[in-house]
Amino acid sequence: MGKMWSGRFSENASSLLDKFNASLEFDRKLYEYDIKGSLAHAKMLHAQGILNDKEYQDIVKGMRQVLHEIEAGDFVFDISDEDIHMAIEKRLTQLIGDAGKKLHTARSRNDQVALDFRLYVQAHNEIIRDLVLTLIRTLVDTAEKHVDTMLPGMTHLQHAQPINFGYHMMAYASMFKRDYERFESSFVRNNLSPIGCAALAGTPHPIDRQMTAKELGFDAPTLNCLDTVSDRDFALEMLFNIATMMMHISRLSEELVLWSSSEFGFVTLSDAYSTGSSIMPQKKNPDVPELLRGKTGRTYGNLVSLLTVMKGLPLAYNKDMQEDKEGTFDSVETAEISLTILNEVIKTMTVNKERMEEACKIGHLSATDLADYLVEKCGIPFREAHFITGRAVALAEQKGVDLSELDAKELQSIDSRISPDVVEYLSIRHSMNARNSEGGTSREKTAEQIEKLKNWLKEKRG
Ligand code: ARG
Repeated sequence: MGKMWSGRFSENASSLLDKFNASLEFDRKLYEYDIKGSLAHAKMLHAQGILNDKEYQDIVKGMRQVLHEIEAGDFVFDISDEDIHMAIEKRLTQLIGDAGKKLHTARSRNDQVALDFRLYVQAHNEIIRDLVLTLIRTLVDTAEKHVDTMLPGMTHLQHAQPINFGYHMMAYASMFKRDYERFESSFVRNNLSPIGCAALAGTPHPIDRQMTAKELGFDAPTLNCLDTVSDRDFALEMLFNIATMMMHISRLSEELVLWSSSEFGFVTLSDAYSTGSSIMPQKKNPDVPELLRGKTGRTYGNLVSLLTVMKGLPLAYNKDMQEDKEGTFDSVETAEISLTILNEVIKTMTVNKERMEEACKIGHLSATDLADYLVEKCGIPFREAHFITGRAVALAEQKGVDLSELDAKELQSIDSRISPDVVEYLSIRHSMNARNSEGGTSREKTAEQIEKLKNWLKEKRG
């Protein structure tokens, strides 16, 4: 059998062309969406009197057979068929004859591929959102267990102010909530049906795009066919949403790498998600967070790559757009496995409370509290309070202790206006709980954040 489009050609395609031009190697992933789309299209053609009963039934039966063959591994993928759309149509026609040839009425591969690819992106948008919710749930569960686990909050990777580990987990839960919402809004914005746009300008056949849109789970047909067949914004949004989410995953991974080092020792990753060294028997490496950090790069690449493919294209479809798929598949697959494994890593890691609390005694974390104390309790202007605190820090350094470990007498030797209750003020836990403003790190405010996010999760998950 020659090419489906071979009518106007007198020479056969070269095998080099087949190799270069074909997308079948990768777009075969779209088979189930292609079949689903064709069945909806055939149903509409039948309802509109374009296909008779027998033709429609043959198509339904034939497509069932094609689906079965693909899933059983019996389908012969032949690169000279170019892409999944023509491979399936060819097999259908072999199976059912003339009715197969009528399926492509009022349709072009341009709207067909726009449909299949959009169905793929929408389906995986839902899968990814579900995985994001699972990860948020794990972060919130971890947060709940650790509202009393103190660790140094950092800026510039230097000890800054004491926070609790639950609060730290909730920072990531907040990022992933935004990610979820980005996927959700992309889903809603792009839930429009491309089918029926044909090559670029619509079709003279009396089709019903409302019907196919509804049949396929879209909210409505798209507005303008010229735009639709050359629109890949839905894929770009997916790529951007994934890249941003992977950036969050990468930041958390970076912390896991640091935290699991001997220097920090804040967490111990479970053996099930750690790897060994081929030469150093003592080693336990955090390969999973490292890979998550590393894989983030390719998801950025996939985004920039498609943006670049699209930037110079005149309306409407151009073959350049066939380059939209591999990067998108790669980002989607990377996102799905990354979310799944990160969730396991967090669920199974051990949080080393003592090490975290030990680390709070480094860096005079309650220095700001002493300054605040001097302002509030002693009526000292902030600039002066800042200076006095500096002297107290110097004294602690000189004694080789943390500011929170100085006693009342030592502090009073610096400024006589200080009273003994200062000691309690400088305790790390007091310092944390003092930050009781909305969104702050106090035990109470952290618990409030957890509660809010749990309610949101309930709304999303039912
Ligand atoms: N394999 C093509 C793609 O992925 C399908 C659309 C081809 N349309 C065309 N007019 N050649 O973009």
